[in-house]
Amino acid sequence: MALPLWALTLLGLMSLGVSLRLRKLDVFRSNTELNHLVVDETSGVVYVGAVNALYQLSADLQLQQHAVTGPAMDNKKCTPPIEASQCHEAVSTDNVNQLLLLDPPGKRLVECGSLFKGICALRALSNVSVRLFYEDGSGEKSFVASNDERVATVGLVSSTHPDGERVLFVGKGNGPHDNGIIVSTRLLDRAEGREAFEAYSDHTTFKAGYLSTNTQQFVAAFEDSVYVFFIFNQQDKHPARNRTLLARMCKDDPSYYSYVEMDLQCQDPSDSQGSAFGTCLAASVATPGAGKVLYAVFSRDGRSSGGPGAGLCMFPLDEVHAKMEANRNTCYTGTREAGRETFYKPFHGEIQCGGHVLGASESFPCGSEHLPYPLGSRDGLTATPLLQRGGLNLTAVTVTAENGHAVAFLGTSDGRILKVYLAPDGTSEEYGSILVDINKRIKQDLALSGNLSSLYAMTQDKVFRLPVQECLSYLTCAQCRDSQDPYCGWCVVEGRCTRRAECPRAEETGHWLWSRDKSCVAITDAHPQNMSRRAQGEVQLAVSPLPTLTNEDELLCLFGESPPHPARVEGDAVICHSPSSIPSTPPGQDHVAVSIQLLFRHGNVFLTSHQSPPCMWAVTC
Ligand SMILES: *[C@@H]1O[C@H](CO)[C@@H](O)[C@H](O)[C@H]1NC(C)=O
Ligand SMILES: *[C@@H]1O[C@H](CO)[C@@H](O)[C@H](O)[C@H]1NC(C)=O
Ligand SMILES: *[C@@H]1O[C@H](CO)[C@@H](O)[C@H](O)[C@H]1NC(C)=O
Ligand SMILES: *[C@@H]1O[C@H](CO)[C@@H](O)[C@H](O)[C@H]1NC(C)=O
Ligand SMILES: *[C@@H]1O[C@H](CO)[C@@H](O)[C@H](O)[C@H]1NC(C)=O
Repeated sequence: MALPLWALTLLGLMSLGVSLRLRKLDVFRSNTELNHLVVDETSGVVYVGAVNALYQLSADLQLQQHAVTGPAMDNKKCTPPIEASQCHEAVSTDNVNQLLLLDPPGKRLVECGSLFKGICALRALSNVSVRLFYEDGSGEKSFVASNDERVATVGLVSSTHPDGERVLFVGKGNGPHDNGIIVSTRLLDRAEGREAFEAYSDHTTFKAGYLSTNTQQFVAAFEDSVYVFFIFNQQDKHPARNRTLLARMCKDDPSYYSYVEMDLQCQDPSDSQGSAFGTCLAASVATPGAGKVLYAVFSRDGRSSGGPGAGLCMFPLDEVHAKMEANRNTCYTGTREAGRETFYKPFHGEIQCGGHVLGASESFPCGSEHLPYPLGSRDGLTATPLLQRGGLNLTAVTVTAENGHAVAFLGTSDGRILKVYLAPDGTSEEYGSILVDINKRIKQDLALSGNLSSLYAMTQDKVFRLPVQECLSYLTCAQCRDSQDPYCGWCVVEGRCTRRAECPRAEETGHWLWSRDKSCVAITDAHPQNMSRRAQGEVQLAVSPLPTLTNEDELLCLFGESPPHPARVEGDAVICHSPSSIPSTPPGQDHVAVSIQLLFRHGNVFLTSHQSPPCMWAVTC
C-alpha cells in the first residue's frame, strides 16, 4: 500500500532567461591590404591605414571617408619631389601605410607612407580627406618612416613635458635605400624656423653607426610618465645573436643623453636547452592592477628544441625602470673592466663606463653630456611565459582590466582571437576564442573601443568589431558560471548573466556571482525532506549563497502547481509552508515528487523573467 507521502524536488530557481543570439560581427572590407588601425577614444571613430588608402570608419565600421594616398611615380633611391627628368627609374609605386597616429589635442592624425622616402602628412580627425600639412620638397630632414615596406616604423605622439609642444617620437629600421635614422623626435608644428616633421632639435636623431652590423624591426612605442619606450628586435652580426630590446628615453631630452636599452627575454625555465622565444611580434601596455605592465608576445622558430610556438610574457614597468636605473648606476660608477662585458654604445659600438661619482644616475635622471650615452646593456630582464602555444604565432596582444581582473586578447596567425584570463598569481587560462577569419593572420594592431566594450581586429583586408564579452548570451547561472568569462557574473535579482557594472545591486553580498568564483544560488537542503499528505507545516530550505535581502525583497515559494506564497527568511534559512495542493500519487509509487522554486517578487509585480538561478537539486524519496 502506497504511503500518502509527498516529496520535494528542489528545483532551485528556474529562469526564463533573456534570449539573445550571438551577434553577427561588424566587418569592413578593403580593396587593398590593411596596415594600421587606431581608434579615437572620444569620438569612437576608427581610422585605418591601408595600401594606397586611408579610411575613416564609424564605431560600427561604416565608411565615413576614404582618402587616396597612392600609387604615385616613385623610386626608393630618388629624393622627392619626384621629377621624371631627375628620377629616370620612377615607376608607379604603391604607398604602404607605415605610421598612423592620433593627436587628439591637435584634432589631427599623423600618417606616413612608404612613398617618397617615408614623408608624412597631418590630416584632420574630422575628415581624413583634409590634409592639414604635407610637404614633399623639404628633402632629407622630412624623411620620417622607413621607405621599405618590409621594415616596420613605430611612433608615439606626446608632449615633451606637460606644457611642452606636441612631438612625434619615431623608431624604425632601415631598408637599403633608407636614411639610416633609427630613433628620432619630430616636431608636429612649425617652431623656430623648423617645419613639421623636422627633427625637434639638432641632436634628436640616432643614426646607425655602421648600417650593416645590425638590423632592427621595431614592434611598439609607448609612454610612461616622463619616458618614451621602444621595443624592437635586432639581429646582431658580431656576435651573431637575435635580441629583443627595450629602449627608454626621457621625452624632454633634446640631446638624447637619456637613451638606455636592454634585452628583454621570454623564456620557459623548464626548457632544458634554455632556448628563449626569439622574436617579439607584438606588445601592449596596460594597468591591470596597481602599476603599468608591458605585455609582449614572442615567437620561436622550428629550430629551437621546443619547436615552433609562441609565448606571452609580462614585464611590470616598475621592474623595467628599476633594472634600467641599476644598469645606469653600474655603468656610471662601476669599473671600466667590469662594464666592458655588459655595456656598449647602441648603434655604434664600445662605451666607456665608470669614473663617475656615486649618485650620478639619480642626479641626472635624463643623463648628461659628461655621462656615457647612449647606453646599452646586455643585462636585461627575463620573464617566464604566462601562456604558451605550439605550432602557431601570437601576432597581436591587448590587455584590459575588468573590475580589477586582467584580461588579454591575443591574435593568432591562424585567424583567431584568444581570450585569456590573467590571474594575479601569474597563471593564465584561455577561457574562449573567436574565429575571426580562418587561417588569416590577425594583424598587430588590435584595439579596444573608447568605452572598452568592443575590440577591433584586422586581417589582410578586413576589419572586424568583436564584443569583448557576451554575458547576456548565457541564459542560466550554470552557463554563466561555466563560461568562466571574467567579464561575467550572475546578477541574482535580475536572473541574468551580466558585467558587474550592469548589475544594480552588485555591491551587496551574494547579488553578483562572478563566473570564476564558480557558484550559483542553490537550495542545498530541505527539512523535513518529505511529509505526509495529511500533514501541514513548514519546510525549511537552506539556500547557498543566500544574497543579502532587504525588507523590500520578498521571496515567494512555489511548490509544484500550488499558488505561490511568501517565504520567511531567518538567518541563512528560507521557510515555506508545505503545499496546499498535492498531485495524486502515481500508481506503483509510495510518494510523489513536488518541485520547489523560490522567486523574487518585486513590488506587486511578479517578475517571472526575473527569477533566481536554476541550480537543480533533487531529493529523491
Ligand atoms: C571631406 O573632405 C573632402 C575633401 O576636402 C570633401 O570633398 C568632403 O566633402 C569632406 N566631407 C565631409 C563630410 O565634410
Ligand atoms: C636570427 O634570425 C634570423 C631570421 O629569423 C635567422 O636567419 C638567423 O639565423 C638568426 N640568428 C641567430 C644567431 O639565431
Ligand atoms: C611565426 O613568426 C616567426 C617570426 O616572425 C616566423 O618566422 C614564422 O614563420 C611564423 N610562423 C607562423 C606559423 O606564422
Ligand atoms: C560603447 O559604445 C558603443 C558605440 O559607440 C555603444 O553602442 C555601446 O552601448 C557602448 N557601451 C557601453 C558599455 O557604454
Ligand atoms: C522521508 O524522510 C525520512 C527522513 O527525514 C527518510 O528516512 C525517508 O526515507 C523519507 N521517505 C521518502 C519516501 O523519501
